[in-house]
Amino acid sequence: MSKKVLITRVIPSIAYDSLIAAGFDVTVWERDTPMTQAQLIEQTKKVDALLSLGANKLNKEFFSACNHLDIIAQFAVGYDNIDVAEATRLGIPVGNTPDVLSEATADVAFGLMIATSRKMFFHHKTIERGEWKQFEPLKNLGVQLTGKTLGIFGMGRIGMVMAQRCQGAYNMNIIYHSRNRNIEAEKLFNAKWVSFDELLKESEVLSVHSVLSEETQGLFNKSVFSKMRRSAIFINTSRGGVHNEKDLIDALREGTIWGAGLDVTNPEPMKADNPLLTMPNVAVLPHIGSATEEARTGMARIASGNIIEFYKTGKMLHCVNPEVLKN
Ligand code: DGY
Repeated sequence: MSKKVLITRVIPSIAYDSLIAAGFDVTVWERDTPMTQAQLIEQTKKVDALLSLGANKLNKEFFSACNHLDIIAQFAVGYDNIDVAEATRLGIPVGNTPDVLSEATADVAFGLMIATSRKMFFHHKTIERGEWKQFEPLKNLGVQLTGKTLGIFGMGRIGMVMAQRCQGAYNMNIIYHSRNRNIEAEKLFNAKWVSFDELLKESEVLSVHSVLSEETQGLFNKSVFSKMRRSAIFINTSRGGVHNEKDLIDALREGTIWGAGLDVTNPEPMKADNPLLTMPNVAVLPHIGSATEEARTGMARIASGNIIEFYKTGKMLHCVNPEVLKN
């Protein structure tokens, strides 16, 4: 009998097509809104494999109802929505989709850095409000990026592309803080590993590319912002949970840091009356890091490939708890 797969939203058709071609019995949640937790559990009970999105909360409650799953294939590189420890305990492998979205996500970080440094979103809004009257020699000036120091928090695949973009375009000096040294980044970009405090002290642009974990949850808070330069631009394209949004608002209001560019907010979605949206030195996007045709198609290919490969060979293209596969 064919294995049953549930895809929890409509994603690029390559996922559905390749699963069908490989002989799976595929159900797609076709509504425009994500499933409720009850719907997710009810639908997952009927299948062997789940192709999930970041909006699905695969927590203890979910696993206690769906401990029968053979495999979870996440349509994202991040998997902080999944209790991986619990999946591992139950022997369920979890796949993700790295690499294919690194360029797209780094482009958003790079774009936000430029947009923030020149207050682009704010200036755009002044035109919409009919406020473009004359040349202004002194109002709302931005800052130049050439030769500045870029601090990368989390030098993984996306951080590497951001470093490459910034060095190529602006000859920026690259420093980084990660749990492990990234020798490739050090060779390619002359990047220097620094302590977290040094990263805060030296970065003129600080770009977050880490995962959201117990260690990084709410890490960028009042005390951390107070250690940064008053001229610093804070960029976050990883997860909104890494920064404390109230503290970020205060830091910008009080001039503790100069500006912020966010593709991820805390919470998401951001409410339309959030004060960040009216601040000149802030640029906000609605979590579009991976939103290119190429990246999303690649994510769909890998997520479905993880399921196909698992049933065919017992291996996966990208698995975040490979110890389960070894058993
Ligand atoms: C990811 O892949 O983790 C993105 O945030 C989802 O687009």
